[in-house]
Amino acid sequence: MKDSFDRIIDYMRISITDRCNLRCVYCMPSNGVEAVEHCDILTFEEIARIVRVAAGLGVRKIRITGGEPLARKGVAHLISSIKAVEGIEDISLTTNAILLGGLAKELADSGLNRVNISLDSFRPERYREITRGGDISQVMSGIEAAEKAGLTPIKLNVVPMSGFNDDEIEDFARLTLTTPYHVRFIEFMPIGGRDSWSSDKYIPTDRIMERVEKIAPLIPVRLRKHGPARYYRFENASGVIGFISAITHHFCNDCNRLRITSDGKLRPCLFSDTEIDLKPAIRSSDSDKEIERLLRLSIAIKPDGHNINKQSHLKSLSAMSRIGG
Ligand code: GTP
Ligand code: 5AD
Ligand code: SF4
Repeated sequence: MKDSFDRIIDYMRISITDRCNLRCVYCMPSNGVEAVEHCDILTFEEIARIVRVAAGLGVRKIRITGGEPLARKGVAHLISSIKAVEGIEDISLTTNAILLGGLAKELADSGLNRVNISLDSFRPERYREITRGGDISQVMSGIEAAEKAGLTPIKLNVVPMSGFNDDEIEDFARLTLTTPYHVRFIEFMPIGGRDSWSSDKYIPTDRIMERVEKIAPLIPVRLRKHGPARYYRFENASGVIGFISAITHHFCNDCNRLRITSDGKLRPCLFSDTEIDLKPAIRSSDSDKEIERLLRLSIAIKPDGHNINKQSHLKSLSAMSRIGG
């Protein structure tokens, strides 16, 4: 389906829980955020039903997000039901990988195609600080298990922050010389744990790129399903380096996505708090007609772009962990 700005909407991000087993400084305040009531969280059956209706409208790719999606029990079962929906071609998951080691194989067997993993430091102490308690050895086991299970390409999401982990930018970039990973540097966005956001911690993509280019020249790469990242590689490197520049380079023009929050709200844009509640339609009727109407509505009202640079706009934004990034 096309929206009012002629963009084809074929990708849905579904947050299946707002809870998380970590508290990354850029995402959540240290005491967490107010949890969504259990009864307001969509069940897996409800999610699968939404996916069926969305697939009928042309959605082809599903990404499962959180909070931390693997903190919810039975994700493999959800993946199998999504896999069974006609029209769905790609199922992916964004995770902190703490629990991935024990689950990767089962997830792959259920039909999961690939994973994106948040990793902001290779140093155990620093990782623990940024995530407020995480154990990096679990993440490393998770990455290894994902590779073994064929959940590839493995994308590593890095949020560089001045004075926290920016001295590791080069280490992350060099990793692509010897591994097939997609290392993606994400501009620190003033959303989620935005009390921790400040202009002096934020590093624009151009500055990150300047540093990476000192290692070796970056060759632009065109990847077929590139999403919000722009990709490059070093000559003869096994992996690629991506830059997600939500703030400095809007990619709204090519935006192909819809989002569903863990409590069943359709969110046409990450940076707009406009939401359409799907739950009443799901819980009051057996007919899919109303769900379809609301999905069409959210595509129709999808804005042409965001205004994230306006501070006044940001105050209203919901927690990142509820939306799933
Ligand atoms: P694929 O391209 O399908 O691999 O996924 P992705 O990069 O979109 O997913 P991921 O969950 O790994 O997100 C990486 C970063 O991109 C996160 O910080 C997201 O918040 C951000 N992101 C994803 N989609 C959008 C979007 O539509 N707009 C903006 N501004 N940021 C987005
Ligand atoms: N700025 C940039 N990226 C963020 N993420 C979470 N909060 C922020 C933020 N404030 C990223 C995480 C995760 C992805 C879903 O969103 O690194 O990989
Ligand atoms: Fe949890 Fe991901 Fe947020 Fe970190 S970024 S606190 S892992 S939801």
